[in-house]
Amino acid sequence: MALNKRIGILTGGGDCPGLNAVIRAVTRTAILGYGLEVIGIQDGFLGFLLNKTRSLSGEDVAGILDQGGTILGTSNRTDPFHFSDPNQPEEKPRDYSADLIRNFERLKLDALLCAGGDGTLTIASRLAIQGLPLIGIPKTIDNDLMGTDLSIGFDTAVANATEAIDKIHSTAQSHHRIMVVETMGRYAGWLALKAGLASGGDVILIPEIPFDLFRIVRQVKKRTQAGHRFSIIVVAEGAWAKGKKAVVKRRIIGSPDPIRLGGIGTWLTDRIERETGIESRVSVLGHLQRGGTPTAFDRNFATRLGVAAVSLAAQKKYGRMVALQGTRIISVPLETVRGKTRFVPLDSPWVKTARAIGIGFGD
Ligand code: F6P
Repeated sequence: MALNKRIGILTGGGDCPGLNAVIRAVTRTAILGYGLEVIGIQDGFLGFLLNKTRSLSGEDVAGILDQGGTILGTSNRTDPFHFSDPNQPEEKPRDYSADLIRNFERLKLDALLCAGGDGTLTIASRLAIQGLPLIGIPKTIDNDLMGTDLSIGFDTAVANATEAIDKIHSTAQSHHRIMVVETMGRYAGWLALKAGLASGGDVILIPEIPFDLFRIVRQVKKRTQAGHRFSIIVVAEGAWAKGKKAVVKRRIIGSPDPIRLGGIGTWLTDRIERETGIESRVSVLGHLQRGGTPTAFDRNFATRLGVAAVSLAAQKKYGRMVALQGTRIISVPLETVRGKTRFVPLDSPWVKTARAIGIGFGD
């Protein structure tokens, strides 16, 4: 193993359940298996730039396995390549990567493990090219990272969204309404698709399949004619009507991805109600999907990835991301993730399965 016998870990981007399981696994493996010291970087790359760190012991990570969020904190609005110091409000954004490399050297780290989504891992990949010994760990409820079949947090988000839609189902039935449920997921439809399928949605709208409003109206009317007096439409925040664009809720200046999607649910509900004459309501699930206790699957998956990431560091296999392919934990170059999105393939077995049981995609 390397000279200083010290590794760092940070969690970056939007939080998700399972991050604490990773921190715990990394800390325990590093200490028990390799005799390393572990430094936790707080608030992602923001904390790295501002020197916010803490040492992590076995005690520090005891009892966190079942906790949502991240004990290290995170930031999804810090890009070290385009950053302005909050302590110097007059300063224009500039490239702070050299400062970050200096902080790395000052901390005497042998390697830095970064648990993140595409924003964090794209930054990690750029820093790795500049020579930092980095290892990526995939996490995102969007499940949109290339190179891995699954990311930490996705399973829990699907479970959270499914539970919420189940509840909406019962009130939809009582009031004979159309209920539109907007999920997160950014530009990929994985979350809406898996939760919509698990919760018995009638229509699922995902960014990969632009929808036609009148196809949805036809499907709802058909259900009414068949005696079903309610319908559930699950719409991904990134879904868009043919000829239109995804609805943007806000722009966060300085964020690696400044666009925050949201609003398609409300847009759709108004139109559906007008076209069908059936009373309709929208529920935006929002950050409920990202919070709370991780599922057993996510805890175990995160633990496997954490152990694998420390093993990569011990082998000095830097510039790579641990990943799941099939049932195996492997690693891929960090480059695989950089600036790319893993979309739902149109011929995905999940789409085919949903279509086979009569779920409409509005196309
Ligand atoms: O990437 C995770 C995610 O939850 C997306 O699904 C969502 O679009 C976005 O983050 C929300 O970001 P914020 O927490 O900044 O509102």
